[in-house]
Amino acid sequence: MNITIIGAGYVGLVTGVCLASVNHDVIVLDIHEKKVDLLKQGISPIYEPGLEPLLKQQLQDHKMTFTTDYHEACNQAEIIILAVGTPSKQDGSSDLSFIKSAAEEIGAQLMKNGTIIVTKSTVPVGTNKKIKGWIQNRLSGPYHFSLASNPEFLREGSAIHDTFDGDRIVIGADSQAAAAKLEEMHRPFNVPVLHTSIESAEMIKYASNAFLATKISFINEIANICEKLGGNIEDVAHGMGMDSRIGPHFLQAGIGYGGSCFPKDTNALVQLAGDIDHKFELLESVIKVNAKQQVSLVNKAREHFGSLSGKKAGVLGLSFKPNTDDIREAASIEIVKQLLAEGVAVTVYDPVAIDNARSVLGESVSYGEHLFDSIEDQDMLFIATEWEEFKVLRLKTIAKLMKNPAVFDGRNCFSLEEAKETTVDYYSVGRPAVIKSSSLI
Ligand code: UDX
Repeated sequence: MNITIIGAGYVGLVTGVCLASVNHDVIVLDIHEKKVDLLKQGISPIYEPGLEPLLKQQLQDHKMTFTTDYHEACNQAEIIILAVGTPSKQDGSSDLSFIKSAAEEIGAQLMKNGTIIVTKSTVPVGTNKKIKGWIQNRLSGPYHFSLASNPEFLREGSAIHDTFDGDRIVIGADSQAAAAKLEEMHRPFNVPVLHTSIESAEMIKYASNAFLATKISFINEIANICEKLGGNIEDVAHGMGMDSRIGPHFLQAGIGYGGSCFPKDTNALVQLAGDIDHKFELLESVIKVNAKQQVSLVNKAREHFGSLSGKKAGVLGLSFKPNTDDIREAASIEIVKQLLAEGVAVTVYDPVAIDNARSVLGESVSYGEHLFDSIEDQDMLFIATEWEEFKVLRLKTIAKLMKNPAVFDGRNCFSLEEAKETTVDYYSVGRPAVIKSSSLI
């Protein structure tokens, strides 16, 4: 099939490369010339395991092209997939301006009947109706087109795997023919397909992300209670997850969720509900709990040291989770900002996200070239992302390198048994702190 993707961001690029790899002919349009130039050379502007080699292969096989020209992108397309950004506005609602301008450009270029316009960007329920209007306003003839919502559920860091091995593909189309064609497009992925109305498909995306965010805030609150009552969150989560009605996933306590989806989509759903005078109190609490959780480690450090002013801290991990260079809404950034505000000198390290962090934190922190740069001679060490290379470190090694070995582990990378065998004062999430009496301040 001839498929066009509008927007070479995370979702558009991964989707395009995967569709090309199962033998569709894919054109990806992006308005940023520099990005398109890089992509034409097979260079991925984002860090995603497995993406670049797959991209290079598609270019070599002539299954994929990149352009900035809407006419070239749209005039032969059977299916046009909208994958442009829908960032948050100040009030938390979705900014649809990129969707609107893409829909208008598509309308101006539609020259044949039967094209299916698919929305993959996460958009508020009801947006597809608006898209229809925006396209119709620009049509130069009586062309007929179909609309569909086909939300994506990719996780950063495992996006290729998730495309080929996802739990479900949701298709909400305005006609049976369009639904059947989209099912055919996805067939090589061998993933179960659910057909719904357009509105249900739009809602499935928001509701899924909001539910997962709720699970995380819930387990984090249980972790906070465990810390006071003496339970161990790892055992509690394990025991809960053994109940098949609850399931074992998304019960890992930590310093809260970040990334491009959960924070944005939870806020947008609260706004969307507010627009129809429904106060989504549960989700509002989920968001509040997450904001508190992101800086909970700094509170522990303050309690440990009394005052943090004048001390030195290392922060290991800046990306919002491992295997990505994405630092959007990452807990690490909130931790660093809080430490700086309290007069702490901060040295950060991340295996891939340093460049992105530099654009946010500038010269306010020191950047370690090696992870030891963030450990050596520090008074305290924060672990904000569970990168594999941090997990294989030993607390004994950390203890030797630090001035006052106090570790605040936001991802429970080490066992309490290991902590007990070292001189490190060790704080984690939802587990008893391991404090050496000789070092109590
Ligand atoms: C998420 C959804 O999983 C995906 O379906 C959707 O398409 C986009 O949003 P992503 O943001 O890539 O994907 O990351 P995910 O792996 O879901 O993790 C999100 C955040 O939750 C991370 O900060 C992670 O550290 C945190 N998390 C996740 C927890 O704190 N505990 C958990 O048990 C799981």
